[in-house]
Parts: sequence; structure tokens; C-alpha cells
Amino acid sequence: MVARFPASRPRRLRTTQAMRDLVAETRLNVDDLVAPLFVREGIDAPQPITSLPGVVQHSRASLRQEVRELADLGIKSVILFGVPVHKDEIGSGAFDPNGIVQVALRDLRDDLGDRVVLMADLCVDEYTSHGHCGILDGHGSVDNDKTLDIYARAAVAQANAGAHVCAPSGMMDGQVGVIRQALDGSGHNDTAILAYSAKYASGLYGPFRDAVDVQIVGGGDRKGYQQDWRNAREALVEVAADIEQGADMVMVKPALAYLDVIAAVRSMVDVPVAAYHVSGEYSMIKAAAANGWIDHDVVATEHLTAIKRAGADIILTYLARWFAESARR
Ligand code: PBG
Repeated sequence: MVARFPASRPRRLRTTQAMRDLVAETRLNVDDLVAPLFVREGIDAPQPITSLPGVVQHSRASLRQEVRELADLGIKSVILFGVPVHKDEIGSGAFDPNGIVQVALRDLRDDLGDRVVLMADLCVDEYTSHGHCGILDGHGSVDNDKTLDIYARAAVAQANAGAHVCAPSGMMDGQVGVIRQALDGSGHNDTAILAYSAKYASGLYGPFRDAVDVQIVGGGDRKGYQQDWRNAREALVEVAADIEQGADMVMVKPALAYLDVIAAVRSMVDVPVAAYHVSGEYSMIKAAAANGWIDHDVVATEHLTAIKRAGADIILTYLARWFAESARR
């Protein structure tokens, strides 16, 4: 006689919430999360960002307050982006010791010491008049090697100001090696590098560009340096190059449309793997939830869990505060 039911019944392990919690393979924790924060020069009160509901451009003072509150909620890592008053051709605000991010790093290091991991995004797009991530050559494209010199200066300025981690996001070839050399050469051997290794030329960065007031001049794009989303194997080439040059951690960005890339990177490397749940991913959840089309908390948890399940150890997300607050409830 043929058995009517298979002996194996996976549903037994789904019968109660306690049982489901017991057998869960993936656990999301506040320790996994990094909060991206914006700090704007020359403002006295935080400014809302319309396309990133719930996220603000901080003043120096409101940033200090926010990071203290995040630390109390258990979020022990933040990454800073600056919005300067003045922009120029080479993005000098990125390496000026009195540039807004350097000033903010000193504030936070004074307030919190080593209680929070202070990361600084290392790029020049927020500081250049043309909005590109590097210095332009005479023909409107980005000059890789001239840009590297600027990145090296920015790394030293960030480390001098108290950054624990420099996170180069400009996708210039050789950037990690040059930054490592500059950090070591200035006595910052302990400053770590989180490399945005596999960063795609994504349409999902739109709200971020509002957050940092960046428009690429002439309606240009970043396809000459960020990756083509048709390529996954190429990400492994980028990751291997960054590790060889001294990256301590590597990142895939964006996250949800690139879960295959996260999984492939995870299986290739032994260093911590980060994924950036970017502005567009966040705003899509907020917009759909505001319309009543999806349940915010369910989808937000589902998305972050999927990123972790794919293999990310660390997730940069604008949902960090919400997650920490809801974890307490
Ligand atoms: C570049 C940078 C960008 C983001 C992080 N670093 C924008 C870009 O490459 O255009 C995007 C982050 C997000 O969308 O949340 N400095």
C-alpha cells in the first residue's frame, strides 16, 4: 500500500510562533545594522527630505543628538554623508579638515569615543560642482588617477577627524590600495576600509541625490564607473581586486535587486560582507505603505531579512532606527 502522506512534514515546524522562532535560519539583529546619516553645513534645524520620508538632513547639533539616541537604541554604527555649502571642480570639501563631515566626525568622536563605529562615505560627488564622483578630464569624463589623489587626501582627513572606517564609494580603479597606503603613511594603520566594491549604476539612488543636493551636470550618469547591472561575475572581479588592495570589508549595492551578487560574494570571500539597502529601496516601501498597498513593518522586515539570508553580515539601511525601535516593543 502506498503511504497517503509523506513521512516528512515540514509544516510540523511551522505550527507555533515559538516553534518558528526556534527553527529560524536567519536572525536579524540591531548589531547588523548601520544607519546612514546626512549632515548639512550651515543649518540650525534638521531639514526633511521629501523623497526619503522620515530621514532628514541633520544640523551638527541634531546629528549629535541622533547618534546618541541610536547608540542608546543599540545601533552602534553609522555612516556619514556631507552636504556642503560650497562645491567646486575637485570637491575640496571632501578633504578640507573643516569640511562638514570632518567637523561632524570630531563632534561625534568627542561625544561617543569608541562607543559607536564611525564610518565616513569617501567620495566627492556631494562636493563637486558637476556632481560626478571624481575629477573631470578635459572631455567631461572622470579621470581615474587624478581622482585617486583626492581620495587619498579625503581618507587622511576623515581618519584625522576620528573616522573608524573609510568607505570609498566612487568606483575608481585602485582606490582601495591608494587609500590604504595614505592611511598607513599617516599613522592610521587601525582605520579600516569598507569598500563599496560592487556598486551598480542603479536607478534606485534617486532619493539619495535629493538628500545630498546632487545633480549630475548635463543630465549625465555614472555608467562610466559604476557597474552595469547586467553583470554579476564582474562583481567578483571588483571584490577580489579590493581585497587584494587591502579592503577589510566589502559591499554590494543596492541590495534587493542584487541578492544573487550578495550570495556569490559571500561564497567567495571570508571578510565581512555588507549590503546597502539604498534610498530608492527604502522609499518604495514608504510610498507603497503610505498608499495602504503594503504593510510597512512586514515588508521592511521581509526585505532586511532577505538581504541577510542572501549572505550579508552588515546592512546599511535607513530603516535602522525603525528596526531598533520595533525590536524593543
Ligand atoms: C556616492 C554615493 C551614492 C550613494 C551612496 N554613496 C550615490 C550615487 O552613487 O549616485 C547612494 C545611497 C542611496 O541611494 O541610499 N557618494
